[in-house]
Amino acid sequence: MVFTINVNGDAHRVDVDGDTPLLWVLRDVLGMTGTKFGCGMALCGSCTVHIDGTARRSCITTIGSIGTAPITTIEAIGATPAGAKIQKAWLDGEVVQCGYCQSGQIMSASTLLANNPHPSDLDIDNAMSGNICRCGTYVRIREAIKRAARTNKKGG
Ligand code: FES
Ligand code: FES
Repeated sequence: MVFTINVNGDAHRVDVDGDTPLLWVLRDVLGMTGTKFGCGMALCGSCTVHIDGTARRSCITTIGSIGTAPITTIEAIGATPAGAKIQKAWLDGEVVQCGYCQSGQIMSASTLLANNPHPSDLDIDNAMSGNICRCGTYVRIREAIKRAARTNKKGG
């Protein structure tokens, strides 16, 4: 079946079964390999993308369930205000170790910052708890989110 999905501002026609996970479509059909496959069961967060501005696990999101909702992936998150701040903070804080989990981490952190310009430690823990890092970069991730948040105006 043919679906038209909106990824990073571009319309893409894809011919796949309706129960195909979005992650498969992004990586294998569209060649966008920045979004990673980890567990395939919504347990690790490495496949996180934004759908309508909300962080979602693309490994369990079927293509047939998306409709016309805009999808943003790691390839374009730097074009959003929150995503640009998060990516800069990640670089400044040298967050990444092996890197495998990091596109998912950045997608979760970006939606947190977009919706909550000054997150508390608890807010950060709650927003990031579904993103696993086997390298244990959690302390640097939290510091980078705080660094990005400090660039937001107070009350904004
Ligand atoms: S691959 Fe989707 S949550 Fe692990
Ligand atoms: S940086 Fe290696 S898994 Fe997170």
